[in-house]
Amino acid sequence: MASYSFLLFIIFIASTPIFLKTNAKLSPKHYSKTCPNALSIVKAGVIAAIKKETRIGASLLRLHFHDCFVNGCDGSILLDDTANFIGEKTAAANNNSVRGFEVVDAIKAKLEKACPKVVSCADILTLAAHDSVVYLGGPSWKVGLGRRDSTTASRSAANNSIPGPTFSLSALISSFSAEGLSLKNLVALSGSHTIGLARCTTFRSRIYNDTATIDASFAKSLQRKCPKSGNNNKLADLDLRTPFHFDNFYYKNLVKNKGLLHSDQALYNRSSADSLVRKYATDTDAFFKDFAKGMIKMGNIKPLTGSKGQIRINCRKVNS
Ligand code: HEM
Ligand SMILES: *[C@@H]1O[C@H](CO)[C@@H](O)[C@H](O)[C@H]1NC(C)=O
Ligand SMILES: *[C@@H]1O[C@H](CO)[C@@H](O)[C@H](O)[C@H]1NC(C)=O
Ligand SMILES: *[C@@H]1O[C@H](CO)[C@@H](O)[C@H](O)[C@H]1NC(C)=O
Ligand SMILES: *[C@@H]1O[C@H](CO)[C@@H](O)[C@H](O)[C@H]1NC(C)=O
Repeated sequence: MASYSFLLFIIFIASTPIFLKTNAKLSPKHYSKTCPNALSIVKAGVIAAIKKETRIGASLLRLHFHDCFVNGCDGSILLDDTANFIGEKTAAANNNSVRGFEVVDAIKAKLEKACPKVVSCADILTLAAHDSVVYLGGPSWKVGLGRRDSTTASRSAANNSIPGPTFSLSALISSFSAEGLSLKNLVALSGSHTIGLARCTTFRSRIYNDTATIDASFAKSLQRKCPKSGNNNKLADLDLRTPFHFDNFYYKNLVKNKGLLHSDQALYNRSSADSLVRKYATDTDAFFKDFAKGMIKMGNIKPLTGSKGQIRINCRKVNS
């Protein structure tokens, strides 16, 4: 008898850290009693915004990524600068680059009317990323909810934790690994670049200097848009084939040396990542499954739960 309860004790102890690690506190049903219309309000806001400007779906997806990589998915990217901190909006990866804040504000205003102080800004970002992917033709997944919002933000943390377009494969792997994400997660989540746009300044060195890993005519056509100097903000499609459709053309491009960013092509450049790229290039189903898994894992990065953080009333400001 004694050994039986000892065994139970061991099982309990052994399972506890696993339980904590999976962030069981996030639940797709988090708002089902407190704000039953939350999911439909966010979805309607996202669809209206995409109908107005197709690109905004991509921008909303990226906002969630840039939120989660900086001290977890806590809505910190949405905070404007204050006397106490310089926020993340002007960090290297974000300045003149991240967009979609007005869409989040409009959704938040509707949520505050329907259920004041209930739905966090961090959860709006997670849901908006999901709804954008689905609306543009990508996979769906169960979105865990219950994240709370940070009361601070950090430009230096954003500078240090968001990967850049000139990163090598090993730098990308380190960056993702620091967030608990695997090589498979890196390759699958980079498939986000099947939608949206990038500025000349982010791919200039690639189109002039990556001669060994770039299709020559692809490079040439981009050089017309993006001269050696100037035109920094000129935009190019991250996926030259179907820039506003969430599909696996991103990977089909990589196997033809037509990745726009150096960090894209780094995933298909004679390494252990090549086989994943080839798999996703030929198997949309495998890509969609691994993308959904990756999004769930990214969305679980260090959420604030319980009594940590707050539910912001205005996503740009800490509650006074
Ligand atoms: C692997 C490392 C990554 C790097 C180095 C990277 C870098 C970039 C860069 C430089 C741009 C263009 C920004 C501009 O010119 O203003 C961009 C755009 C974008 N990124 Fe990434 N990214 C990475 C991973 C991801 C991930 C994991 C996601 C989403 C889960 C994502 C989603 C997007 C989207 C959707 C766009 C287009 C945004 C728009 O059109 O507004 N990226 N990325
Ligand atoms: C972060 O990046 C911005 C823009 O590149 C830069 O101005 C700033 O000095 C960097 N460091 C910190 C700590 O904010
Ligand atoms: C952000 O961009 C603006 C406009 O181009 C620029 O004036 C400012 O110096 C940039 N801030 C940082 C920190 O790089
Ligand atoms: C290409 O590389 C050379 C040598 O490293 C460098 O001087 C030049 O600025 C780079 N060109 C671009 C457009 O990045
Ligand atoms: C491809 O690999 C070579 C050799 O390691 C490296 O010099 C180059 O920068 C890589 N290119 C990309 C786009 O990753």
